[in-house]
Amino acid sequence: MPDDFPLPAGPDTGCPKLDALSLRLAAANALIRRRRTIKPSDMTVKPVSHLHLATILENARWAPTHGMTEPWRFFVFSGESRQRLADFLTATYEKLTPQAEYRPDKLEKLGAQPLQAPLVIAVGMKRQRGGKIPEIEEVEAVACAVQNMHLTASAIGLAAAWLTPPIVYSEEMREWLGMEPGDKCLGLFYLGWPKSETWPETARSDLADKIVFHR
Ligand SMILES: Cc1cc2nc3c(=O)[nH]c(=O)nc-3n(C[C@H](O)[C@H](O)[C@H](O)COP(=O)(O)O)c2cc1C
Repeated sequence: MPDDFPLPAGPDTGCPKLDALSLRLAAANALIRRRRTIKPSDMTVKPVSHLHLATILENARWAPTHGMTEPWRFFVFSGESRQRLADFLTATYEKLTPQAEYRPDKLEKLGAQPLQAPLVIAVGMKRQRGGKIPEIEEVEAVACAVQNMHLTASAIGLAAAWLTPPIVYSEEMREWLGMEPGDKCLGLFYLGWPKSETWPETARSDLADKIVFHR
């Protein structure tokens, strides 16, 4: 690691010479470092407004997309449909989980989580038929869309969690959502107001260990 590369000392310290940078960069730094995974068990069921949901989904579609395929698809569950989602998840877990891996606590969690949040968004990847774009790039584009959603939720003060129990990747899940063969569900994005007034903190390991400089 070269001595002249100014790594920030930690998530809350900001970049060196932050005062000399634009407000826009300061806002981006703050938002990116504030984004946290807050799980459904730490959410209230207080409704999320249509305006907030619309803003989150609008920002999702500004993610980068190779070939402009815009592969993201969103299946929004609210109200009673969350129970139908919970029933599907538990039934599918029971059907697909090998005996040796079966965990009653996981089954219970799968059934409980959709009812702990006012909104659950199943995130789908629409595979372009005969397209030139490799599947991994369609997945990457959807991941960027999810990050946009998560950042927007954090800016609003909403709790959000992108959760991927293995059954979300199943053919059963894809079919249940009404997606075509070749498409994929990439997880469940839970959204709600946090129970706690204290925004959670986390840490990251040393950035210097993850960079190789070539000069
Ligand atoms: C693709 C993806 C899938 C994830 N799936 C799960 C999951 O199934 N269960 C879970 O507890 N967290 C899941 N997470 C969230 C991570 O646990 C979380 O990002 C990590 O703990 C760091 O916390 P932070 O998001 O607050 O920075 C997932 C994150 C990503 C990017």
